[in-house]
Amino acid sequence: MYAALRSIGAYVPKNVLTNADLEKMVDTSDEWITKRTGIKTRFIADKDESTSDLGLKAALKAIERANIKKDAIDLLICATISPDYFCMPSTACMIAKKLGIANIPAFDISAACSGFIYALASAKAFVESGMAKNVLIIGAEKLSAIVDFTDRTTCILFGDGAGAAIVSATENQSEAIIDINIAADGRYYDYLITPGCGTNKPCSQEVLKEKECFIKMKGNETFKVAVKTLTNDVVEILKKNNIAGQDIDHFIPHQANYRILNAVANALDLNPHQVVMTVSKYGNTSSASIPMAMNEIYEEGRLQYGDLMLLDAFGGGFTWGSALVPFAGR
Ligand code: ACO
Repeated sequence: MYAALRSIGAYVPKNVLTNADLEKMVDTSDEWITKRTGIKTRFIADKDESTSDLGLKAALKAIERANIKKDAIDLLICATISPDYFCMPSTACMIAKKLGIANIPAFDISAACSGFIYALASAKAFVESGMAKNVLIIGAEKLSAIVDFTDRTTCILFGDGAGAAIVSATENQSEAIIDINIAADGRYYDYLITPGCGTNKPCSQEVLKEKECFIKMKGNETFKVAVKTLTNDVVEILKKNNIAGQDIDHFIPHQANYRILNAVANALDLNPHQVVMTVSKYGNTSSASIPMAMNEIYEEGRLQYGDLMLLDAFGGGFTWGSALVPFAGR
């Protein structure tokens, strides 16, 4: 049995946060943000909208587009670094509850911006081993809840959103996910970190005062490792599978910074029309960024059955991953 990516869906919260809005909140400018990141807007969830609400809406679209019944789902995986609840229950359990499905395994994956590729790899393994037939994978983030909106080095980067996909068993090899590579290097754990409120530094007045439950990032150092790792990773997966850059229909990288994406696309000698860029609109939505970008080209009518996608992600941990995926949806 092979694993095929059958459908894609996404949800974007309605509140837009522009660079002009951020200029009123911190010492920054539209010019600086645009030049350094390419980001113009990002979307922010309502106060009473949690990560599972965003994930649910993306999941409903993915299920409808896969043309399956909810009851056919036999595994639910949610990648997130901004879960509804600290420790438990998992956001996957909350989405399953809101979907009205029970008695199937549901769990979260914590791999920051690489989370969707980690979820895809897990779904592929479950399907190929015969342990599941229809896996719902979700990347959902309410990063606005873990961003310090007085820290100009991070608050300009992140946004909220969710993406979801159905990965199903197929006997048709031409639909099969070709290859996935995932990896991590914990030596860089403190480059991207929420230092407080975990067991290492439990929640206290001091942790709250120092705002240590928010994202802290060594941006410049992360940037350098990200470019090198993302480039090596895609070069490697293409070489391993004997596929040329020109054979890729859509290169869908994690949307962190347009300068990172351009550097990787140039190293691969890709044409601009092959590279999917949504960072200017949505900012960095961590595990949701790749499925949201995939959904964007699907809804524009640019993603067709059989198109070959190259996915590439890098995030906190550090974690990274790449995948060669033919689109098996309609
Ligand atoms: N507005 C104006 N000035 C700013 C801002 C801002 N919002 N933020 C920082 N600056 C200043 C800095 O203070 C610094 O000033 P100084 O030279 O006087 O000290 C100057 O701008 C340059 O700062 P750098 O951090 O060197 O800027 P850089 O060009 O590296 O851009 C950025 C910063 C956009 C964060 C970039 O480093 C980046 O994109 N890093 C990678 C992010 C990433 O890939 N993360 C991985 C995934 S995220 C995840 O896993 C959740």
